[in-house]
Amino acid sequence: MSESRIHNAALRGKIMSADEAAALINPGDNVGMSGFTGSGHPKEVPQALARRIAAANLANPERGENFKVGIWTGASTAPELDGVLFKVNGGSMRLPYQSDPECRNRINAGDTWYTDAHLSHSAQNAAWGHYGKLDAALIEIVAILEDGRLVPSTSVGNNVTWLALAERVILEVNAGLNARLEGMHDIYSIALPPHRKPIPITRADERIGEPYLRVDPKKVVAVVETDCPDRDTKFSDPDENSRRIAGHILDFLQYEVKKGRIPANLLPLQSGVGNVANAVMAGLNDGPYENLTAYTEVLQDGMLDMIRSGKLVYASATAVSFSKDALLDFNANLDTYRQRIILRPQEISNHPEIARRLGVISMNGMLEADIYGNVNSTHVLGSKMMNGIGGSGDFARNAYLSIFMTPSLAKNGALSCIVPMVSHVDHTEHDVQVLVTEHGLADLRGLAPRQRARRVIEKCADPRFRPALADYLARAEKNANGLQTPHLLGEAYDWHLRALRGESM
Ligand code: COA
Repeated sequence: MSESRIHNAALRGKIMSADEAAALINPGDNVGMSGFTGSGHPKEVPQALARRIAAANLANPERGENFKVGIWTGASTAPELDGVLFKVNGGSMRLPYQSDPECRNRINAGDTWYTDAHLSHSAQNAAWGHYGKLDAALIEIVAILEDGRLVPSTSVGNNVTWLALAERVILEVNAGLNARLEGMHDIYSIALPPHRKPIPITRADERIGEPYLRVDPKKVVAVVETDCPDRDTKFSDPDENSRRIAGHILDFLQYEVKKGRIPANLLPLQSGVGNVANAVMAGLNDGPYENLTAYTEVLQDGMLDMIRSGKLVYASATAVSFSKDALLDFNANLDTYRQRIILRPQEISNHPEIARRLGVISMNGMLEADIYGNVNSTHVLGSKMMNGIGGSGDFARNAYLSIFMTPSLAKNGALSCIVPMVSHVDHTEHDVQVLVTEHGLADLRGLAPRQRARRVIEKCADPRFRPALADYLARAEKNANGLQTPHLLGEAYDWHLRALRGESM
């Protein structure tokens, strides 16, 4: 069946098995792989490579882990890529984002380096050579046209850049994905500075490129046919906290509309991943909105529901990531969704220039925020990597409204997600305009640090931790060496040290 998807004669001549293709990847290679939030990643060659790495390392035990590769992707992938490769300790370097338990464990054990980068930066960092040489690209596609152009898969990610930079290219042509994805993508590449031209997107629904990826056929060393659907993402029904957080955001947006600060159909939405984000989308779907648009990074169930209901008229992203039911619906109605969804390279979907121009409403999750508005999205108690910054920074600094949300407590209530000083900073106080927990929403726009602190404690902190936070602020205002952002430095970190000792903060 997949034979018919490779319409280029020269590339048909390069068909081989996943094991044969994996043999073309050498120890020490940097491999640029497709994949973004569990979709569009290669599914067979990484598993073959993991088998090869396991066998090679077993054959040379005295040399230890002698076979590792650098693994560059668009963003997070799935067990059949990160899972298998990191299980055999096969990754020397991982970038720019991950969320896989095997990979996370290797990073936190020091077995692999992790360059956690803004997703919009990774393509140009690679092009500038900051990550070293890209030896191979391993890209999943849906079909190859007669003239050699490639029909992209369910994510675009960094594929344009990996195909351009890599010395050797391996293509996985996946017959398990819907061929009618053809036409959904908008592939556009930008030149490196200086004299880069403006990216001509002024609306989320604007197409500026072509629907195909291009590759120099001389670089293609292998074409592997696969037949594996994307892994479906599990979403649970929003819990009470998620619903409350969503409720606060919806009230706030309604208030902003009433004040005339944003239009009745809001501004283009950017929504992070996960259940809270889906709960916000569900709330918007039930709300009094029409003609909404999204300029976001990944399209999940919540936005698909909104497209189906007609509330969301257009969504621009770099990937789709759906639950089983949403995936079925997406595939069954792809011809309709193709009129409503554009998938772009992540350099474009997350580009600060566009986020600033469109004035997006950015909503992302966080681990903790401090009373002054600094946000930690990535490091548990300062040192331990959770996932990575992903696209949150691309949007937060450039959005019209940058909103960060979290339940107020973590680890069965032992930890407060509102602390005097965050244990790691991803988003500075200058990039964070609104903080939300289940208790309330703190609009920090235009406030000075001590004004922000009062509002964050009052609106967002759990009542159990409010007195301690207020007491910290009051004593800091008396005893700190300045009153702009008063801190009691030793005491601020005592909160995290108590947590590290397994005590309540
Ligand atoms: N201190 C320590 N651990 C904390 C914590 C805190 N303040 N807050 C949450 N955690 C732990 C939770 O206990 C949970 O741990 P577990 O997996 O062992 O159960 C884990 O962190 C995830 O927390 P959860 O409440 O389930 O959060 P989430 O699924 O909403 O994810 C982020 C929150 C921050 C991890 C997630 O939003 C993220 O990775 N963000 C960065 C990337 C991003 O924003 N991408 C979107 C851009 S488009």
